Amino acid sequence: MYEQFSHSLLNEILDKLKPKIRKQDLHHFYTRLGANFYSLFLIFEQLYGQRDDFNEHLLYLVETMARQYIKRPRNLRRSDLAREKDFNWFLDQKWVGMTLYADGFADNLKGVQAKLAYLQELGVNLVHIMPILKCPKGASDGGYAVSDFRKINDKIGTLENVKNLAKEMKQREMLLTLDVVVNHVSDEHEWAQKARSGDPRYQDYFYCFENRKIPDMFEQTLPEIFPDQAPGNFTWDETMHKWVMTVFNTYQWDLNYSNPAVFIEMLDVLLFWANQGVDILRLDAVAFLWKKIGSTSQNEYEAHKLLQLFKDCCQITAPGVVFIAEAIVAPVEIVKYFGEDAINAKECEIAYNATLMALLWDAVATKNAKLLTQGIKNLPDKLERATWLNYIRCHDDIGLGFTNEDIAQAGYEPRSHREFIINYFAGKFENSSARGLLFAHNKKNNDARISGTLTSLIGLEKALEENDPEKIDIIIQHILLLHSIIFSFGGIPLIYYGDELGTINDYSYIEDISKANDSRWAHRPRIDWENAMRRKQPGTVEYKIFNALKKMIAVRKKVSEFSDFNNRKLLEISNPQLLAYVRFNIKTRKSVLVVGNFDAHPQYLNLFELETQGFQMGEHIRDLYSGNTPTLFKDQLVLPPYRFYWLAGN
Ligand code: GLC
Ligand code: GLC
Repeated sequence: MYEQFSHSLLNEILDKLKPKIRKQDLHHFYTRLGANFYSLFLIFEQLYGQRDDFNEHLLYLVETMARQYIKRPRNLRRSDLAREKDFNWFLDQKWVGMTLYADGFADNLKGVQAKLAYLQELGVNLVHIMPILKCPKGASDGGYAVSDFRKINDKIGTLENVKNLAKEMKQREMLLTLDVVVNHVSDEHEWAQKARSGDPRYQDYFYCFENRKIPDMFEQTLPEIFPDQAPGNFTWDETMHKWVMTVFNTYQWDLNYSNPAVFIEMLDVLLFWANQGVDILRLDAVAFLWKKIGSTSQNEYEAHKLLQLFKDCCQITAPGVVFIAEAIVAPVEIVKYFGEDAINAKECEIAYNATLMALLWDAVATKNAKLLTQGIKNLPDKLERATWLNYIRCHDDIGLGFTNEDIAQAGYEPRSHREFIINYFAGKFENSSARGLLFAHNKKNNDARISGTLTSLIGLEKALEENDPEKIDIIIQHILLLHSIIFSFGGIPLIYYGDELGTINDYSYIEDISKANDSRWAHRPRIDWENAMRRKQPGTVEYKIFNALKKMIAVRKKVSEFSDFNNRKLLEISNPQLLAYVRFNIKTRKSVLVVGNFDAHPQYLNLFELETQGFQMGEHIRDLYSGNTPTLFKDQLVLPPYRFYWLAGN
């Protein structure tokens, strides 16, 4: 939108730009700046308009973008233009992701590069590499305590390695995703060091307090993220002689975004990584960006404004790059990270579907789809040009992020139901074969989250120990069922490395003092590549899982109904053990029925129920995954234990 005041301000800013910048050919940059400036200005003013130095910061912001645009390599500028044209590129069903640790997966970045062929063998074409930046030697929250945003952890590689990897991935048409930890830095970061040494400019990069007055006020409403390993939200710094806000671990200092200098520094970091050839930036812990006394300091209005501002600036400088929001919060809050206004307020194009993840685990424990169906029914609508990251496991713990209302609607009492799920995965019941570990156990309210690999949580670790082939095969079906949902739900499926090979918990973290109090390390495995070769040996667990996933991925990529244009309809069916939804292609008017049996016994789907909801299966139903016609019994579709179907008529 054209608006006089902001436009004349923009003219002034452009006149003040350094001659070095003005000399360049910034044609596309200026077009995008003009298009986004009003929105950018409004947000920047809302956040920082009170300050005397507002105009200086705005100039500095524009300069930062221009400098990064000038540095943007030509091939990336070309890809920006192509993606601006094909702007729904990331909604296509062809994308299939995997998250991995460079060291756990293949020792280092070079190792990851050497294993790209393995990923392609499976069908993965989007790789999220967990934090690779310089971080403290001991505990570093798995690299989420960053000491330098532009240096690579030397155990993992060099910047050159990242560039080579990005280059080869582009040649192979794969997408690279890296983290930017926007909420906090390690206490070894230069800014923290300077703050510690008494520099007021850098103390203003953090939340530092001389006494407990304000921290105590904050504590009244702030929850604890790591109540056992890092209770409280402030840490006394002996050198600085001040309390500093540390919402996560004591060595992770929260950044103070009420200071515009912090925003601009972090924008510079985002654009730096965009310029290294990263396609997707995963913005870590975005719910926490703005702190307010008297609130939980999560999902604050200003946190959304900051993300909108990051998005506006990134669209001006590197529009081909999209963001993932890592906001593991309540279902109604998560969707807000796409932006609340369909046109102006875009934030992150992709968000972790933490709700679906937790619901799937509920269905595993209860062996029915009651809450799963209920939770999906109430999943808030998302915007156009926004998509989910659908996952079963990731490097973090499982939090039961669905709502009490949905639990009650599904027919359970919320408190005891949550307790049941946690106890189930902790393996506390005789009939539970789960091998989960408690995480962030809050002894004050007995709340806990769960760690463990998919294989161990779902009971395969135990079945393997018992060497029970029948049980093993049924549990493999169960693993495939969960994947069939994340591959067909709508969004980008994200496989967690090791799951494709049935990797079990790694209990060795207990012997490492920097990891022992954090059970999430149990599910951050080191891949045994000799063992991985068993994927080529028929009959092995590795073979069965790997090849089934490979096939599922190949089928997904061919089914245009699985692309994500908000084209899913949940079906209401009377059998609570089953989940059923239809995916349709608006253009071709074709559809695919996805149905899964979450029970350990065969179940039936009454086909009449589908017809009353407008879904006709036609004469010749075929399961797209197996290529077979499924068994029908008196107008009922038969689903063996934990079986899924992707059904299409013709
Ligand atoms: C994110 C990461 C998690 C980390 C936290 C703090 O939630 O996924 O692993 O502990 O941020 O950085
Ligand atoms: C909480 C946070 C999430 C983080 C996780 C780590 O759930 O909301 O951001 O990843 O803790 O355990």
